[in-house]
Amino acid sequence: MSDTSNQFATISDFDDKAAELAAARQHLHAHPELSFQEHETAKYIAARLEDWGYEVTRNVGGLGVVGRLQQGSGGRSIAIRADMDALPITEATGLPYTSLASGTMHACGHDGHTTMLLGAAEYLARTRHFNGTVNLIFQPAEEAGKGSGAQAMIADGLFERFPCDAIFGLHNHPGAPVGSFLMRAGPLMAASDTVTIKITGHGGHASRPHLTVDPIVAAANIVMTLQTVISRNVNPTETAVVTVGLIHGGTASNVIPENAEIVLSVRSFSAGVRDTLEQRIRGIAASVAQAHSATVEIDYERGYPVVVNSEAETSFATEIAAELVGHEKISVCPLIPGSEDFAYFLEHKPGCFLRLGNGEESPFLHNSKYDFNDGNLTVGAALWARLTERFLAV
Ligand code: NI
Repeated sequence: MSDTSNQFATISDFDDKAAELAAARQHLHAHPELSFQEHETAKYIAARLEDWGYEVTRNVGGLGVVGRLQQGSGGRSIAIRADMDALPITEATGLPYTSLASGTMHACGHDGHTTMLLGAAEYLARTRHFNGTVNLIFQPAEEAGKGSGAQAMIADGLFERFPCDAIFGLHNHPGAPVGSFLMRAGPLMAASDTVTIKITGHGGHASRPHLTVDPIVAAANIVMTLQTVISRNVNPTETAVVTVGLIHGGTASNVIPENAEIVLSVRSFSAGVRDTLEQRIRGIAASVAQAHSATVEIDYERGYPVVVNSEAETSFATEIAAELVGHEKISVCPLIPGSEDFAYFLEHKPGCFLRLGNGEESPFLHNSKYDFNDGNLTVGAALWARLTERFLAV
């Protein structure tokens, strides 16, 4: 590195802000808001960005907030995204800053993601050591599933109104050491689809099965045959999940019902495998039902796509992370079967989604005892500040 490397943000540049960042994070933690209801969180963010001199646009795709800061005449622009929403979980941490909203909890660390980006926002506005445009995207409704915040912001013209050359985001990662980064180019997190299969037979008395078409037997055979999709249809070097999470049919032991229903969660890491799974699941459901003289209705709902990190932006982000925490705290991230709506941004722009260790002892995400690790606040803020300064180098 040249002597000028000192001009870029380091973690220690945020040491004097650590207490302030922790207080902000704990404030957000105590005041969680569910997807599509992040009114106060959005207000809190917008007010701070305005204080620091950002051009703030509210209500982008619902309650989304975009803070824009331009410096110099550089034509490059970067986008960094943090998510804002909480979950319908009753907190069981017993922490002094425990949720004040009954039944609602920041159990995925979005309070921390938001605070880290605010930390970088303040630093960048104060130091202005970059040449170009920064777009800070505070996204609502990441947990919403269908019609999530990322989809809504894109539909509201996010990338036309706030053009950027690349987009970055991160999620905390329970199980990995605090302040360590897990990086992966290419597919990182799974596409998540939900399939509802409604089987219709012909009901009747349990003692006279020959006069009925039993949808329970058809459903049971569909469930078993679905177990061959991964083992027989997916390339063994690739991976996917087909889980039947719900099966329902019938009301009494002496009645053969008219209908049965099974609901599947389907995860995949490439567009090709995703298409194969849909084709096979549809085919098996229809043909097995037909073998039992039953019929099926299939509602195949595609959820979040695969999170695919672009090569160049991932190696750039890895370099920045290593400059901050050292190579020994960077590791290759395993494929994650969970999903994330940042995937939609990456369908439009090159970019990278990073994972930041939340501690080896941290409870899992979406657990009632989970808490974001405040030891990461200065690390995350420094990451976003330095990544911006290097991306928009003077
Ligand atoms: Ni999350």
